[in-house]
Amino acid sequence: MLTKKVKARLFPKDFLWGTTISSYQNEGAHATDGKKASIWDTFTNHPNFDKGNGNEGNDFYNNYKEDIEKVKELNLDVFRFSLSWSRILPDGTGEINPKGLEFYHNVIDYCLALDIQPWITLYHWDLPQSLEDQGGWTNRKILDWFATYVEICTKAFGNKVKNWIVLNEPMTFVGLGYFMGMHAPGKKGANNFLAAAHHATVCQGIGGRIVRKNVPKAYIGTTFSCSYVTPSSRLSKHKKAANRIDALLNRFFIEPILGMGYPKDTLVGLNAIEVFVKENDKELMQFDFDFIGIQYYFRIVAKFSLLPPILFATEVPAIEREVNINNMGMEIYPRGLYKMIEKFSAYPKVKDLIISESGVCFDDPIINGKIKDKQRIKYFKNTFAYTLKAIEEGKKVKGYFIWTLVDNFEWAEGIKTRFGLYHNNFSNHKRTAKKSAIWLKKFLKTKNKTSQETLKVISKKEAVLENYN
Ligand code: NOJ
Repeated sequence: MLTKKVKARLFPKDFLWGTTISSYQNEGAHATDGKKASIWDTFTNHPNFDKGNGNEGNDFYNNYKEDIEKVKELNLDVFRFSLSWSRILPDGTGEINPKGLEFYHNVIDYCLALDIQPWITLYHWDLPQSLEDQGGWTNRKILDWFATYVEICTKAFGNKVKNWIVLNEPMTFVGLGYFMGMHAPGKKGANNFLAAAHHATVCQGIGGRIVRKNVPKAYIGTTFSCSYVTPSSRLSKHKKAANRIDALLNRFFIEPILGMGYPKDTLVGLNAIEVFVKENDKELMQFDFDFIGIQYYFRIVAKFSLLPPILFATEVPAIEREVNINNMGMEIYPRGLYKMIEKFSAYPKVKDLIISESGVCFDDPIINGKIKDKQRIKYFKNTFAYTLKAIEEGKKVKGYFIWTLVDNFEWAEGIKTRFGLYHNNFSNHKRTAKKSAIWLKKFLKTKNKTSQETLKVISKKEAVLENYN
């Protein structure tokens, strides 16, 4: 009998597999060794905030070695983490805190000792409170504050770390923090939003240039939250509504970097941002990034709506559409990652793409000492398969970093929303591997070989994907 030979579909040998965390969500030690408050310390310790606080995070500050050992155990290549600005410069500017630098040197050295690539994110939302007291991202002085901070970090760590990310998801921290008031610092309104958004855009360029100057052979990127946006029906008004949401969520921060300006063609209300745009800003905003980080979690179905003004569009909540949702009520839609890879690849000036974050959150209860997060395994199988499809079609996707290693403090959601490969007991910070961690370890062990496991994951792709369509 002839056995049909199945051709193995494998990820490229140099494809980077990683995991990613952030300072505020993980470190804890919020007032230790000279660190002062960030806007998230202030926000979550305010009596109006009822979701707990990140004072302890998941205690990465005291557990960094064990956690980095887990990265190794999982057969991952990359550990992406962010620097806490207020640990390094407790007042935002001025005196450097040697203990702060020491902590990150320890983290970096431990990664290098275990042959794990450290990737640094310069800003993952925890602005020093003293800078917020002067207006934070709405104050144009942030351009100088940020430049000083980036100079210090790149000079301190640039001889050890080659991979740098300037900002983490500017639309999230600006949109939720300075427009909706749902994230720190809890500000609202169009003016705060437009000022903060423009300054963040300029800082991406400023940051990129400083890394280029100070770090030899650096690989530099910045990251964007992105959502696949589809209209609720074929009606033109809904299609246009979807385009406006897409411009806001997916085009706003990347197009100025590429020299295309803000997407005012689609989102006419954005003309108001011009008040904040000064001479030379168009040049300052541009930077030739080596890669763009895509951070994908869910799809949005959009429809026309009179509110909010300017956008004239709203979302049809996933719960009303009776689709598969995560425990934040967002639709789990792996194909959306493929659509976003397509979208970002279509910009001729974009070089490499890294999936710098993707993941899914559930309640993940421990039952008899085990966490059977089958849905998370399915999510990774599907998004890996879609990533591979994109690579086979010639898209330059160079890595996939999982959000996240250990359950941590999920911002406005607190600690109930679990994204980790490892479960964290928030009373004593004991970590327990979830089923997904065990699966991932096995998958990655065989990643570059023709293996049954790899074949199974990839060749059954279409069948698995159907469950979501
Ligand atoms: C994106 C953010 O970068 C990260 O901090 C957050 O926890 C995840 N999304 C999940 O919401």
